[in-house]
Amino acid sequence: MTLLHVTGARPNFPKAAPVIAALAAAGVRQRLVHTGQHYDDRMSEIFFRELDLPRPDINLGVGSGTHAQQTAALMVGLEEEFLQTRPELVIVYGDVNSTLAAAVTAAKLGFPVAHVEAGLRSFDMSMPEEINRIVTDRLSDLLFCTSPDAIAHLAREGVDPDRIHLVGNPMIDTLLANLDRLDAQRARESLGLPERYLVATLHRPGNVDDPESAGALVALMQSAASRADIVLPLHPRGRAVLEALGIADHPRIHVVEPLGYLDFISLVRGSAAVITDSGGVQEETTMLGVPCLTLRPNTERPITITHGTNRLASADNLLALLDAVLDDGIESRMTPPLWDGRSGERIAHVILDWLDARETA
Ligand code: UD1
Ligand code: UDP
Repeated sequence: MTLLHVTGARPNFPKAAPVIAALAAAGVRQRLVHTGQHYDDRMSEIFFRELDLPRPDINLGVGSGTHAQQTAALMVGLEEEFLQTRPELVIVYGDVNSTLAAAVTAAKLGFPVAHVEAGLRSFDMSMPEEINRIVTDRLSDLLFCTSPDAIAHLAREGVDPDRIHLVGNPMIDTLLANLDRLDAQRARESLGLPERYLVATLHRPGNVDDPESAGALVALMQSAASRADIVLPLHPRGRAVLEALGIADHPRIHVVEPLGYLDFISLVRGSAAVITDSGGVQEETTMLGVPCLTLRPNTERPITITHGTNRLASADNLLALLDAVLDDGIESRMTPPLWDGRSGERIAHVILDWLDARETA
């Protein structure tokens, strides 16, 4: 009996770590597949060095491509892996192409699927992640939700309530488990940043792929840099476009390689505010009480606005919002329910009960 975890892209790793640890504590046999969707040391390997994650049992080495090329390669590699391992349950994380490919491949072979971070919806079908979320949820036998809104979405889509579990947020488990290891001052000084600085991350296709929107974004970041220095760990997606447009030319924009988890979270914790289009960073800033301005027209994580420090921003209002948070900070309301560092344990309990019930049946 083997539980098989599928990971492959940067945001998968901090979500999977606490689930794998909790199941390991229960003595269950597990296998960790890395699809190879992300492969640079700083997008992948560094998380295995820093977080409580076992070495992957296999790396499928799928790499980059168009959506169809990448998803097809993922499905071919995963099909072979699933047929060899014949897992009792395939556990998938988040909303990346590795998540979708694993859910489709497992479901067609008849292997049950558990989706960690189910039910989030941006209602924006131009985002590849929204398609991945909807399909993955439709095919999942166990759906683990990080927020009550996700449960409401799944209920509206007709998912059997017995399959849905509100468990809190395993990415926040990882954050809380690592708080003692953070050193904001060291991280700031090692990059030569002044005491007051901003952190930015930008990688959504809608922001960085098209040179016209990327150009507007560069101009916006340059204006923001007139308020405070910005450290921008640049995701490989869009790096060439943003650099060609001069993102690194401004003296107060510090463009660096993607950072390891501990350095990144240390910098976020010590920052005056974050400008981002990341999903996970909206949640981490909410937990840390750091103002977050999300450069997107929507979010699949509205709880970070209703309960947290996140605000949606656009080119039209970013500077005004930034001025306001730099002057007054932002009121941090309450922690979202069950974001308490124990989500991995809750997920493990549900899975163990599910395995017992299957054995009995
Ligand atoms: C993927 C996810 C996105 C997630 C992001 C997290 C999908 C559809 N998108 O986007 O939801 O927010 O990961 O970081 O799954 N590249 C490298 N080195 C790497 C990985 C990628 O250079 O290690 C470059 C390649 O040029 C590649 C491009 O980045 O073509 C995009 O990579 P890909 O995995 O397709 O999508 P992301 O934009 O990273
Ligand atoms: N992150 C990191 N280094 C960076 C940028 C982000 O370790 O330079 C972490 C971040 O703290 C979070 C995860 O990567 O845990 C989020 O991944 P990303 O923004 O790539 O994906 P998304 O959440 O948008 O899908």
